[in-house]
Amino acid sequence: MRLGISWTIAMALLMGAGHVLAEGTEGADAAAGKTKYDQFCSTCHGTAGDGQGPVGKTLNPPPRDFTTGDFKYGGTDQDLFDVITNGAAAKGGSPLMAPWGAVIPEADRWAIIKHIRSLRK
Ligand code: HEC
Repeated sequence: MRLGISWTIAMALLMGAGHVLAEGTEGADAAAGKTKYDQFCSTCHGTAGDGQGPVGKTLNPPPRDFTTGDFKYGGTDQDLFDVITNGAAAKGGSPLMAPWGAVIPEADRWAIIKHIRSLRK
């Protein structure tokens, strides 16, 4: 019984550590990030990240221009993650920037952020 509880705690700690390692852009797969970005984001934000995608250039407010590195709702990786996951409307912004949390797995969202950072000129 004692061993059983220790085992459960050890597994919980291990899973917790794994979760922490999976978070953030550091270990994220930049190539996967580009693939997913091109698939889900480039129609608005543009392949180059300049906000001039075929749909993006028709929108008001315009999609963020990632070549500038400036952001409206905070510039940390976590801030970007929150907007991508919950949408800009959750921050009082445009519903055109939709919530992607249910569509794109968490690891891919971090990978996309890594790619977005690389688009800064
Ligand atoms: C239908 C067009 C559209 C698509 C597709 C789209 N976005 Fe956006 N995005 C926008 C618009 C419009 C804004 C500006 C929202 C605002 O100013 O309130 C925006 C803003 C953002 C911001 C800036 C938040 C800030 O603080 O300035 C980020 C980051 C972002 N989008 C990431 C993404 C990612 C990642 C994807 C793909 C998973 C994506 N967007 C797909 C239209 C889009």
